[in-house]
Amino acid sequence: MAKPHVFVTRAIPEKGLAMVREFCDAEVWPEELPPPRAVILEKVRKAEGLLTLLTDPIDAEVINAGPRLKVISQYAVGVNNIDLEAATARGIPVGHTPGVLTEATADLTWALLMAAARRLAEGIAYVKAGRWKTWGPMLLLGAEVWGATLGIIGFGRIGRAVARRAAGFHMRVLVHTRHPDPAATAEMGVEFVSLEALLRQADFVTLHTPLTEATYHLIGEAELKAMKPTAILINTSRGPVVDSQALYRALKAGEIAYAALDVTDPEPIPADDPLLTLDNCLIVPHIGSATRTARERMATMAAENLIAGLQGKPLPHCANPEVYQRDCS
Ligand code: DGY
Repeated sequence: MAKPHVFVTRAIPEKGLAMVREFCDAEVWPEELPPPRAVILEKVRKAEGLLTLLTDPIDAEVINAGPRLKVISQYAVGVNNIDLEAATARGIPVGHTPGVLTEATADLTWALLMAAARRLAEGIAYVKAGRWKTWGPMLLLGAEVWGATLGIIGFGRIGRAVARRAAGFHMRVLVHTRHPDPAATAEMGVEFVSLEALLRQADFVTLHTPLTEATYHLIGEAELKAMKPTAILINTSRGPVVDSQALYRALKAGEIAYAALDVTDPEPIPADDPLLTLDNCLIVPHIGSATRTARERMATMAAENLIAGLQGKPLPHCANPEVYQRDCS
């Protein structure tokens, strides 16, 4: 029997690709950069499955261009690049990879928090430039992490994993979420507060919301103004959750002290973006889940979702479960 044809938009770790190849006739986009839109539109025409990355806009036009399309499997937990409504309307389940990148992303959040607090990027540049002449009593003074107040916006898996790590630093942890969970207060000692209260009190503000219409520019001019002038903003969620022009102005004017970003808007950040001119802004290229372990588990999970969808079985991790409740009469 012929294997189902699938288009994989980039090479993912081999363990996942091997699973895909065993079950499918897989065409894997070989380039480092994502396939152009025209290529995706062409490939989807004969594909029964798509294995996508967060860099691929999978909108209604793409989804509806695939008459044989049975499943979309995203190699990421976030699915803001995929039109879930359009997929659901066509009865197409969308897979994603929750859970397996939680700890890796929480670790990177902490790496950014510590790096920003202690101005590591500036310190490294200072040494490399040959400027280190002596120990300096006022050299590169940063913020104390121990005992500080951490504000977490969004309290899903990653927000919680970040909160757990804060216990080791004896921090007060404030959380803003649409779904406060009293059990988390008992278990982790976190306090659920309004966004305004969090912004006013936190020394570190870290973002862990998905990107939705409600969270687009959640942190804008007013929110940045509400933060302490010594505050540090960390974003490992999605770039557009922060209004980057407002962030530039706030950092430049000293309204907040520092930002550490794993994600930007747009992404990748253009080389002439003003944020790159600032010493108090540290940016890394969306590497929250970039550990060998997490990426391999994401790859096998994406393969499992893809194969289940091709077999007509429920996806183990489905981002649009309502697709299974659809009235097909
Ligand atoms: C995700 O999975 O959504 C991350 O942003 C990339 O791993």
